[in-house]
Amino acid sequence: MPAGDGTWGTAARLPYVCLTRGPICGFPGPADTVAGRGPRPSWAPAADQERAERAITGNRQASWAFADAFVAEDDVLVRARARSHAAGVRAVSPGTGAALRLLAAAGDAKSVVEIGTGTGVSGVHLLRGMRRDGVLTTVDTEPDRQQLAREAYREAGFAGNRSRFICGPALDVLPRLTDGGYDLVFCDADRLEYLDYLDAALRLLRPGGLVCFEGAFAQGRALNAAHQDAEAVALRELMRAVRDSSLLAPVLLPTDDGLLCAVRHA
Ligand SMILES: C[S@@+](CC[C@H](N)C(=O)[O-])C[C@H]1O[C@@H](n2cnc3c(N)ncnc32)[C@H](O)[C@@H]1O
Repeated sequence: MPAGDGTWGTAARLPYVCLTRGPICGFPGPADTVAGRGPRPSWAPAADQERAERAITGNRQASWAFADAFVAEDDVLVRARARSHAAGVRAVSPGTGAALRLLAAAGDAKSVVEIGTGTGVSGVHLLRGMRRDGVLTTVDTEPDRQQLAREAYREAGFAGNRSRFICGPALDVLPRLTDGGYDLVFCDADRLEYLDYLDAALRLLRPGGLVCFEGAFAQGRALNAAHQDAEAVALRELMRAVRDSSLLAPVLLPTDDGLLCAVRHA
């Protein structure tokens, strides 16, 4: 059963649920859903179903933790992560970093924009996936953090000409970047500005380019319409905009806090 159709299926003889079309995201779902979880299959009595759900939830948490740690980080990233922690900056998880590296490599990325440098954890992952002659343009409002990121890139062995640091608010900087000049735009700064970053990305990306947004789940708040804080609402709007855009082919990857990605159609 394909995911996202709002119905139940069977995986490893257990029922699983497809949440994305149910009311859980505030998205329209089928009328006969059970609390946003899709229609209950006739063969699954409620008690069995709940037991199965508990089992699969446990399995999923273990699987996600396993997947997130699957690609181990080296000393360079461990040190960059420690600096991030000390500076009170939330860096991407190892699994999200590995996904970014893979996406940059799969797209043979030469020009990448990163919104939210932090202390350089995501930047090292991106640079490792990009072409050897690629340039990462990374934007942040905090010069001290960018200095730490510069150190991380240098420790990782990247020459100074592989990165371009721009210090300033993203919404001031992005209009100055070249239209259609980028293969990948990675967004990890102010969640309330993500819809603006999406507009900017559509302008900056070449056809076939990729945009990614870190933190789409907002620690789960964006997945539950009961949460009406500004960030949760903004992320739900972003998910709808990306999913429903005729210009984009989207996917929501469940790495860490949710990595929403989309390719700009050629
Ligand atoms: C979550 S951290 C980025 C972490 C980094 N991507 C990593 O994984 O190592 C978010 C960063 O965005 C920066 N930031 C927040 N609002 C911003 C804005 N409006 N424009 C540019 N940078 C911003 C913060 O200073 C912070 O360093």
